[in-house]
Amino acid sequence: MYKQLQQRGMNSPPINVSTLRRMKTEAEPIACLTAYDASFAQLVDMAGTDLVLVGDSLGMVIQGQETTVPVTVDDVVYHTRIVARGLRRAFLVADLPFMSYATPEQALDNSVRLMQEGGAKMVKLEGGQSQIAVVECLARHDIPVCAHVGLKPQSVHKIGGFKVQGRDNAAAKQMTEDAKALEGAGADLMLLECVPNEVGVQISQCIGLPIIGIGAGPSVDGQILVLYDMLGITQGRTPRFVQNFTINTETTLDALQAYVSAVKDRSYPAKEHCFS
Ligand code: KIV
Repeated sequence: MYKQLQQRGMNSPPINVSTLRRMKTEAEPIACLTAYDASFAQLVDMAGTDLVLVGDSLGMVIQGQETTVPVTVDDVVYHTRIVARGLRRAFLVADLPFMSYATPEQALDNSVRLMQEGGAKMVKLEGGQSQIAVVECLARHDIPVCAHVGLKPQSVHKIGGFKVQGRDNAAAKQMTEDAKALEGAGADLMLLECVPNEVGVQISQCIGLPIIGIGAGPSVDGQILVLYDMLGITQGRTPRFVQNFTINTETTLDALQAYVSAVKDRSYPAKEHCFS
C-alpha cells in the first residue's frame, strides 16, 4: 500500500476512521473543512486538512439558496465526485441531504450512491432519537456514519432560524442523551454545531467517539468551518464562530494552512468564537 502511495507522490498515508480515533486518543486536534469542487479540494488537502466534508451547505454557498433544505442527493453526489478528484490524504465525508434518510432503506440507498458514485468514505446525517434505526441500519452494513447534533440546519423551519442550541438544562440533557444513543447505534464520528462551551464539555465527557465542533468551543476533538466563511467569501453577517483566515495571509493556500495550524495548536477557536 505504501508503495502505491509513494507512486502517487504522497508523504503520508490517507486518513481513515482509525486515524481519526487515534488522533482523539493522542489528543491531536482534527482539522476539517468543507469543499465543493476539485480545485479547492486540492488546496484544502495540500494545506494538511484531515477531513473534508461535502456539506449540504453547498445549497447556500454554491447555489445561493436561503437554507440547505432544497439540496438533493444528486447535488451532493455531483459535488462529492468532483471533490474526491482533488483529494489525496484527507478523509472524505458527504452529507445526506434533507429527507434523504427518512427510512433506513432510503438512507441505505442514498448512502450507497454517495459512496459508490461520489467516492465518500463516510456519510453525515442530522440526528436525534428518531434517527437511531437509520444509524443502526447503516452501521450494520458497514457504512461509516457521522451524526450531526446541536444546531441541525435541515430543521431550520421547525426551529425558527439558525440559533444556538442547548442553552437550557433540559435541552442540553436531551442533546447529551441523543449523542449517547447515536454512539450506541453505531455512529463513528459526531459533529456538534452551535452550542455553549459547557455543552461541548458535557457531551465530550459522555462520548467515546471523536467529536468535531463548529461553534461548540475548544473542548471537542476537532474543528470544522465552511470554506467560503473562513476565506471571507461569504458576504453579510457571519456567525460568531467564524474567523476570516485570509486576513494577514497572502495566498489562499496560506490562509488554509493558517487555519490548520490554528486548529492544531488550539489557538482557534478563541474565546470570542465561543457561545456561553
Ligand atoms: O453542511 C455543512 O457544511 C455542515 C457544516 C456544519 C460543517 O454540516
